Amino acid sequence: MFQFCLPGGDPVTTSMQDPLRLAALRDVPDESPLSALRQITAPGYLDTFNHGDLPRWLEILAQLPELQAHSIDLKTGVRIGSRADGLAHPGQLNRLEALLREFIPWRKGPFELFGLLVDSEWQSGLKWERLLPHLEPLAGQRVLDVGCGNGYHCWRALGEGASLAIGLEPYLLYVMQFLAIRNFLADKPCHLLPIRLDQYPGPFHYFDTVLSMGVLYHVRSPVDHLLQLKKCLKPDGQLVIETLVVEGDEGYSLTPERRYARMSNIWFVPSIPTLQRWTQRCGFRDIRLVDSTITTATEQRSTSWMPFQSLVDGLNPEHPELTCEDLPAPRRAIVTARNTA
Ligand SMILES: C[S@@+](CC[C@H](N)C(=O)[O-])C[C@H]1O[C@@H](n2cnc3c(N)ncnc32)[C@H](O)[C@@H]1O
Repeated sequence: MFQFCLPGGDPVTTSMQDPLRLAALRDVPDESPLSALRQITAPGYLDTFNHGDLPRWLEILAQLPELQAHSIDLKTGVRIGSRADGLAHPGQLNRLEALLREFIPWRKGPFELFGLLVDSEWQSGLKWERLLPHLEPLAGQRVLDVGCGNGYHCWRALGEGASLAIGLEPYLLYVMQFLAIRNFLADKPCHLLPIRLDQYPGPFHYFDTVLSMGVLYHVRSPVDHLLQLKKCLKPDGQLVIETLVVEGDEGYSLTPERRYARMSNIWFVPSIPTLQRWTQRCGFRDIRLVDSTITTATEQRSTSWMPFQSLVDGLNPEHPELTCEDLPAPRRAIVTARNTA
């Protein structure tokens, strides 16, 4: 059980609060499918992580200023409040920026809060714009975003009218970033569970749309990942797989000897025909390649909110069509599919 002290206050025990702000998922009747999430949504669940930074992070969240957003745009970006809202409280805005910078690196975004731009490493809206024309409308849908990072695309799904967006993300710093944004969007049906997909306890066959973007190459068994995604989808539900891909025939996938573009946790980078075959073998139909794009520094670069190495540092400076390990430079594809009925 963690304890921390707010300035001038008594020690606060995290498990006595609702640090993940999951009450809306927890306080459901026993017969609700969402009751399957009770263990994860319990107020004390975070205590099981035993993460050394957690008390400090929760204190930062508790100190976020109370600013009122008079406008919210989740449709063309993630914009909360306006510059005018922020200018009404200039001291608070500086404080907000200083607190949000405690959660660096911000890899996904950008977010605009009261005129403050959280300029993330990735322009995550570009991926969304490549995907959106190929999605069945999300209005009224339940959306699961597996490996959602700080939840950027969950908010964009709400912007398209989703009735519920749940993200799964095991990396706690990104969970904290999500909670910082959610602080200003508290009434929205958007929640993040701090788990991997293989830890997800259900409800199964519950979501209309399941997104797995940027995750497949991180898992050791991509076929098991696809089968787990299928279990989350309703019959006929839509699946989105976005992943690194390489050129190659059906059957080919790249397993780097050690690193890929400096990343150490890359296991399988499939060719597009291999990805389609895996998807078909896992029981999906209407499998469509809807996009294939080489990643550029317009989409992924260092910023003051992510001041570490980025795409260019992972490329061969003489031959930018190759990574620094002389493998094909990052190309990403989006495949959509439908669950079998
Ligand atoms: C490259 S990021 C992609 C973030 C976001 N989906 C996007 O497309 O911008 C991959 C994320 O997946 C998370 N992740 C890795 N393995 C996972 C798993 N088995 N289940 C859920 N999330 C996972 C990582 O922690 C990381 O935040």
